[in-house]
Amino acid sequence: MAKSVLRLTLNDQPREDAVADNTLLVDYLREVTRATGTKMGCDGGECGACTVLIDGQPRLSCLTLAASCTGKHIETIEGQAKNGRLSRLQKAFHEHLGAQCGYCTPGMIMAAEGLLRVNPKPTDQDIKEALGGNICRCTGYVKIIESVRAAAEDPA
Ligand code: FES
Ligand code: FES
Repeated sequence: MAKSVLRLTLNDQPREDAVADNTLLVDYLREVTRATGTKMGCDGGECGACTVLIDGQPRLSCLTLAASCTGKHIETIEGQAKNGRLSRLQKAFHEHLGAQCGYCTPGMIMAAEGLLRVNPKPTDQDIKEALGGNICRCTGYVKIIESVRAAAEDPA
């Protein structure tokens, strides 16, 4: 498979990488950049574990070609903590037990981050709809919704 130079920004850092034209974004993130926080769950657009932000919009990286992200800003869970401080969503998931095994958590947090940027005061229904494509096998979702609500109410 032919390779092309992929230029994009990952968590505020510009990058240039030679990437095969058929490389999925999730594989580029995990195998080329070693940003392994983004998880592969179903490999088919069903679970949301691979959710990242592309130019601020939640997207499934298992259904996205890396080459289609030329010139775009990709945000992953690795970029959420700033200067050693957890993001308000990371803090809320920790404090409100929104993560158990943690496998779904990066995708949940990125989907929730996308929501809070456009809807800073979401209703529980808004949260459920925004996370509707993200599957969790552990929590029963109640703690996840509580965590997003707490993050939205966090003045920080
Ligand atoms: Fe992408 Fe499941 S791995 S939706
Ligand atoms: Fe285990 Fe969600 S915390 S899958």
